[in-house]
Amino acid sequence: MLIHSASQLLTLSGGPQRGTTLGELNLLPDGAVLTHGERIVEVGQSSDLLARHPHETLLDAGGRVVMPGFVDPHTHLIFAGDRAMEFEQRLQGKSYLEILASGGGILSTVKATRAASASQLTGLLRQRARQLLRLGTTTAEVKTGYGLELDSEIAQLMVIAEFSDPLSPDLVPTFLPAHAIPPEYKGDSAGYTRLVMDGMLPQAKDLWQQRFPGRPLPFVDVFCERGAFTLEESRLILSRAAALGFPLKIHADEFENLGGASLAAELGAASADHLVCTSPADIHTLAGSQTIAVSLPCTPFGLGETAYTPARDILKAGGLLALASDFNPGTAWSGNMQFVLALACRYLKLTPAQAIAAATINAAAAIQRDDSIGSLEPGKLAHLLILDTDDYRQLGYRFGANLVTTVIKNEQVISNPEDAGC
Ligand code: NIG
Ligand code: FE
Repeated sequence: MLIHSASQLLTLSGGPQRGTTLGELNLLPDGAVLTHGERIVEVGQSSDLLARHPHETLLDAGGRVVMPGFVDPHTHLIFAGDRAMEFEQRLQGKSYLEILASGGGILSTVKATRAASASQLTGLLRQRARQLLRLGTTTAEVKTGYGLELDSEIAQLMVIAEFSDPLSPDLVPTFLPAHAIPPEYKGDSAGYTRLVMDGMLPQAKDLWQQRFPGRPLPFVDVFCERGAFTLEESRLILSRAAALGFPLKIHADEFENLGGASLAAELGAASADHLVCTSPADIHTLAGSQTIAVSLPCTPFGLGETAYTPARDILKAGGLLALASDFNPGTAWSGNMQFVLALACRYLKLTPAQAIAAATINAAAAIQRDDSIGSLEPGKLAHLLILDTDDYRQLGYRFGANLVTTVIKNEQVISNPEDAGC
């Protein structure tokens, strides 16, 4: 297929963008992309590609922006139930961590999710994933973490890993049994930490290798926070995971600065996520590493807080910055990456170009997939969006609507209704 006549073809070519180099769109005016099967084979000027490939199936972008699909490197998309009641409690003055400490929060979603069958969870996942694709997300990381016991954590991991749907983003699984201390271990975080390290991680690895021989292991993540896992517990769990060969992620500094970002850098984690209360020293350490700083601006927005990731400091220090939605029922029930960009422009002070690069090529690096997605370059997967505008800066500037008219993925062209963008 030859997708041609893009007003602006945002190629994002050249790999992950560090520090203040963030925002290199490598934009081709009047651009075109030639795909064969599910891969991109050529990128160039429309006139040139149209002349050299006269027999290709044509898709006319009609003078609109064409760009890579969004990559969302941090979601909790698989859960049952909702927490509208806690939203109301928070508005009346209770804090997120107080609700968690009193057995609600994540633990209330754990109750609902444990009670759901695998087929119910698959149905909920499919419904949410399909919405994300229509909003332009073509790859999404998805975490377990609402089981907190071996069987149900493994069941969630299998639902994510076995999920396949032509109308959904590709999913990248993360194993997060260390999301909270389950009620069965209340007051015994050391005991639950041991269970994760000595029971859950080795069993998840064995089962994974039996079920999916040759497939890379999922990420292992930890919620390093007061009321969840201490820095030392996080270190123990992540070090064991690394020794077993799992790639790593961490939830760090969402509410307090415990040092999780530096731990991520030290252990060579793929990403450290949240980073709202990160200290200058931790920013410095993180920026000097290969670990991607993933900011989740929907989370402070969803909690009605005013502090966001110090993104400009991270860039000034030379860090690699990505954006994600954090879709979850507690703090951020939204997987709309266009809204994430709008928040990032306003509260992280990113330009639209920086936000786009953080949500494509750098987001791909945060899930170690930047060799196959995140930019429009020959050899990569043909995951493309056509926007309902000729100017990429409309992303970030406009919010609350869907500017994606068409998603191209796995040789399919999925079009949104014409009035979706108003
Ligand atoms: O990333 N902070 C931990 N995990 C999620 C929230 C999950 C929940 O509240 O259900 C987050 O914000
Ligand atoms: Fe999260």
